[in-house]
Amino acid sequence: MTQRATTAPHTERRAKLAALLGPRGIALIPTAPEQQRNRDADFLYRPDSYFFYLTGFAEPKGWLVVTGDGKSTLFCQPKDLEREIWDGYRVGPDAAPAQLGVDASFSVADIDTEMPKLLDGRNTVWYPFATHKGLETQVEGWLNKVRGRQRSGALCPEQTRDVCSVLDEMRLIKDPYEQATMRRAAQISAGAHIRAMQLTASMLRRGEDVREYHLDAELLHEFRRHGSQYPAYGSIVAAGANACVLHYRAEAGAVKDGELVLIDAGCELDGYASDITRTYPANGRFTGPQRALYELVLASQEAAVAATCAGARFTDPHDATIKVLAQGMLDVGLLDKNKVGKRDDVIEKRAYFPFYMHRTSHWLGMDVHDCGSYNEPSELAKTKERTDPLTGQTVVDRPSRILQAGMVLTIEPGLYVRPAQGVPEQFHNIGIRIEDDALVTETGCELISRGVPVTVAEIEALMRA
Ligand code: GLY
Ligand code: MN
Ligand code: MN
Repeated sequence: MTQRATTAPHTERRAKLAALLGPRGIALIPTAPEQQRNRDADFLYRPDSYFFYLTGFAEPKGWLVVTGDGKSTLFCQPKDLEREIWDGYRVGPDAAPAQLGVDASFSVADIDTEMPKLLDGRNTVWYPFATHKGLETQVEGWLNKVRGRQRSGALCPEQTRDVCSVLDEMRLIKDPYEQATMRRAAQISAGAHIRAMQLTASMLRRGEDVREYHLDAELLHEFRRHGSQYPAYGSIVAAGANACVLHYRAEAGAVKDGELVLIDAGCELDGYASDITRTYPANGRFTGPQRALYELVLASQEAAVAATCAGARFTDPHDATIKVLAQGMLDVGLLDKNKVGKRDDVIEKRAYFPFYMHRTSHWLGMDVHDCGSYNEPSELAKTKERTDPLTGQTVVDRPSRILQAGMVLTIEPGLYVRPAQGVPEQFHNIGIRIEDDALVTETGCELISRGVPVTVAEIEALMRA
């Protein structure tokens, strides 16, 4: 990942974090470790999302320290000509303050000497509790060094807290800089979906053997061509019945005339994910049954979009989706009203579950399933118990998060029809998902991923072109 061109948003975020730590608090945020793939090869490096959010600094081995008085210190790799010949340019501690806007910087080689000095005199140490293996032991080691100097007047912090609890809340509301990056990421991904649709139709028209990996390659080409660093998650390119496997990847499946293709793919741009799914007919024309189910999923997505605005609950789009899908399943004959009853019975018994088994939304941001609580923080004490109709287990519900402008969530209803007795054969093996990225606004939401067509007419027109 390349370094950010501007330090302003990161300086602002660090100042905001500092204000939340308390005057004698200190936060330690390491970046992600490098990961070996096999022998001499590493996985492509990606910095830790929290660290990158606060620094825009993409080198490995970095640590950010923020103190309650508003000061930031960066530990980074020292300059080293030989290593830089092999691995590339390093900013180094001398240039870091000017380049990254931090107040001080040290070589990471000196971290065991410098960190105890920074910890001395603080009362609370904040660090990520769940994301870095072995971090607790490392922090404890530095705290023991401070304790060892207590007779010389050192003051050791008394408590530790999870810094993610405050950073998650900050990351949940996207600032204007993040919103602009996410719009651009979604726009690139939309363009990639368009290219994949067009390639499918044109290859089939030429009588060529289309495979899922051809479309995967097309997506990747379009992502990289526009400066995206990598896909935000493993792209799903699922031809025909493969679409009914929720976590399918892009393999060698044949893309056949008359079948649907489901592509769930989004690029990551400068640390921010996009997440788009489109389902389209390989030859550019929906069959009757494909169209019937597609229109149903689209109608359920429209209902979810209409339910998304500041002040609504996170679960409102899901509930709106379910209402439309449940009625639709009865109307098209996926469910038999003589067996399951009316729409509200379908919802109450979760009878829709064999065909729609995932939630409609998740937060989207630096991580494709982004951080942020799904419960409303001001209502955590309000719990309600119920029995799940399918599992018989007791579930504790808490009030769902109230949406605020600047939050970004996906809206991704689907229908997945595996062959089974009693399920009309014309729908067998059809898997459909339609996924868009919604930026919550005061009055509704902005669908930042709509650069790719979604209606039947638009998709068919695009694929004819
Ligand atoms: N692509 C992952 C998801 O849709 O949640
Ligand atoms: Mn998603
Ligand atoms: Mn997705």
